[in-house]
Amino acid sequence: MHCAAVLLASRAASAAPLRTRHAMASNLLHVLPPQRLLRPLAVPERLLLGPGPSNVPPRILAASGRQLLGHMHPEVLQVMDDIKVGIQYAFQTQNQLTLAISGTGHCAMEAALLNLVEHDDTVLVAVNGIWGQRAADIARRLGASVRELLKPPGEYFTPWDIEEGLVQHKPSVLFITHGESSTGVLQPLEGLGKLCHRHGCLLIVDAVASLGGAPIFMDQQEIDILYSGSQKVLNAPPGSAPISFSEQAREKILRRKTNPPSFYLDMRWLANYWGCDGEPRRYHHTAPINSFFSLREGLAMLAELGLENSWEHHRVHCAQLCQGLRDLGLELFVKEEKARLPTITTVRVPEGYDWKEITAFLMDNHAIEISGGLGPSVGKVLRIGLMGCNSTSRNVDRVLHALRDALRCCRRSRL
Ligand code: GLV
Repeated sequence: MHCAAVLLASRAASAAPLRTRHAMASNLLHVLPPQRLLRPLAVPERLLLGPGPSNVPPRILAASGRQLLGHMHPEVLQVMDDIKVGIQYAFQTQNQLTLAISGTGHCAMEAALLNLVEHDDTVLVAVNGIWGQRAADIARRLGASVRELLKPPGEYFTPWDIEEGLVQHKPSVLFITHGESSTGVLQPLEGLGKLCHRHGCLLIVDAVASLGGAPIFMDQQEIDILYSGSQKVLNAPPGSAPISFSEQAREKILRRKTNPPSFYLDMRWLANYWGCDGEPRRYHHTAPINSFFSLREGLAMLAELGLENSWEHHRVHCAQLCQGLRDLGLELFVKEEKARLPTITTVRVPEGYDWKEITAFLMDNHAIEISGGLGPSVGKVLRIGLMGCNSTSRNVDRVLHALRDALRCCRRSRL
């Protein structure tokens, strides 16, 4: 066809109503354009007071909506360097091998385990909720000999529990969760790193739910691998996950007998990509650049607020929420006050109520998300998250008001 004719035909096609254009395509295509994709994207306004993600403030939203740059452009490398020092601040560490995984907090858990653990290593996992269960599952998939140290959901491990496990099982790695989001427990970390090192073991700590909400001092507490996520206190969308390795952990990774079973998460490659090994940076994967922009802003907001202020905000609003829940006649799941995670509060499902009706009521009538239990706490608890910019006195009042309404209106279950 002549050029002008092609142009005219294509103008006519783009001016034609959608239905006609699809009809033209349908002779050739067996799979038609899905009707649902022809409708506009629907994103309602909600207050996200579950265990995460939490709402994203305008500054971080704007960062994730910025125009793309090439992932190896100097400005993006600069953003990655900003992220690195931001994580060092948030973790209170000077570890060189500090970076963000291109993935969620769960991906960082996989990265921690699959880089450190080799076939037949003995891994001791402290299990008092879903994250210990997950870590044990991942370590088994890696061919490790996995031993579990068990506590009922809602309880934490004492240094004596840990020492007993170390003596009995002689592991080379101990995994423990600082903020158990499934049960609302905050695990004390004091002395655990030293204890592990005395027994020739390295310590991995999951701080996905606790970072920025409860004190953590990676270097002082002698933690070997610490990781978190972006979607909780940092208020960024899920998709990039802070992680850091002590010198001992880094050396163990460099001495591995076998390659880690994932190329994408191989820390030797990622160390180079993030400029942590002193070598010129090489291409490894195409980073989620806008996710890095938003993580950078989340870390910047934490640095501006100050870690100690952030811990204090979370402590104060968690205490206000706990008092309000008790005033409603509800029972907190974690008995000891000091063992309560300041970011996610768990409350027992009240007798005679169906937890699903309560969460649905809050969503339908108040546009507030709270969540039921997860893993071992399913059916037992409701989980209320107050994280980062969502941790405010006003939000405590809003969720308490909505819960009072739910307790009044939700049908008592016939069970
Ligand atoms: C996710 O982190 C959850 O606890 O639901």
